[in-house]
Amino acid sequence: MSVDFLKLAVAGVQGLQPYQPGKSIEELERELGVSDTLKLASNENPMGPSTMVIDALHDPTPQLDLYPDGGGFILKDKLSKKLGVTQAQITLGNGSNDVLDMIARAFLCEGREAIYSEYAFAVYPISVQAVGATAKIAKAFPSDDEDSPYGHDLDAMQALISDKTRVIFIANPNNPTGTWLKADKLDAFITSVPSDVIVVVDEAYFEYVIEPEYPDTLQWLSKYPNLIVTRTFSKIYALAGLRVGYAVCSEEIADCLNRVRQPFNVNTPALVAATAALDDDEHRKNCVDINITGIKFWRAACQYRGLEYIPTVGNFITIDFEQDAMPIYEALLREAVIVRPIGNYGMPNHLRITVSNFEENTQCLNALDKVLDDLGIA
Ligand SMILES: Cc1ncc(COP(=O)(O)O)c(C=O)c1O
Repeated sequence: MSVDFLKLAVAGVQGLQPYQPGKSIEELERELGVSDTLKLASNENPMGPSTMVIDALHDPTPQLDLYPDGGGFILKDKLSKKLGVTQAQITLGNGSNDVLDMIARAFLCEGREAIYSEYAFAVYPISVQAVGATAKIAKAFPSDDEDSPYGHDLDAMQALISDKTRVIFIANPNNPTGTWLKADKLDAFITSVPSDVIVVVDEAYFEYVIEPEYPDTLQWLSKYPNLIVTRTFSKIYALAGLRVGYAVCSEEIADCLNRVRQPFNVNTPALVAATAALDDDEHRKNCVDINITGIKFWRAACQYRGLEYIPTVGNFITIDFEQDAMPIYEALLREAVIVRPIGNYGMPNHLRITVSNFEENTQCLNALDKVLDDLGIA
């Protein structure tokens, strides 16, 4: 008897599409036989981790036969001092995606609603639907909006709040748009949200943002017990392969998250690496500087070529080719350059490119010039 296992899955899972990760270098080289591939598809940090991380991972090599420290004491201790919060306010995750999932499992289920914006990070629908909750998607600002094209429209999000709303996800800055919310607007929004609705501010790219009006959300935790801030070691700390992220919130909410957290969800090398990464302020500053230079590079390149792009404060830039971007993406693959098509976000004409150092930005731009020329688009 053949069984349709999808039919056996819970309703929310049946309606899900698997997350589409950026193509891996190995996959591309196997498929197309290219080499020396440049991957600018997943907003990783081309600088790699701090040498302090590499040293910590080697000397001594983390003990692999024992379970990790399930409480993540050393990392939480260091984070709590750095962030000015208690250890009990921090929940560690296997990447911040894990924390987003914990939030959904702790606070959402069938009959409850979560709100997020159109074009918001693709993990929110997965976490929400997997637990059977209903997603309410607020229309984003239009592409020709002067302040924040494609950005989160907080009034539209506020208008979707109902008695069933339990969680609101806000990415600041958002991926894949790179758009961001200023402190005064976000503050006013959270004030307007009922205190029994949880507001998640996803700050995966927080360390990259240099805008003076970008909010210091951790300062708001005492006035908003319903606020959860999530951050990650995958981006500026360049530890995407190890999977470490965290949430900071009230101790009461953290207690709920810890009830659904899998024991030992963060592995030993990841704990060691993240702890060491926090020590290297200089590396972090260098990465910010290189990213700022890289954004300027891409802005100038787009302007020179008459390409529309979404203003970004993250470590990526999203370009509008004003036509189906898939042929451009595919031609770039043949040039051994992987970027990210974002048709799954409802943006089929855009490609998202991770901002890198001068050498890699130039390599990617040269490939893009060739491809646009070959396709007769330039
Ligand atoms: C907005 C946003 N949030 C969260 C994440 C998840 O990062 P990680 O699970 O690696 O911490 C990402 C990764 O790309 C992201 O772009």
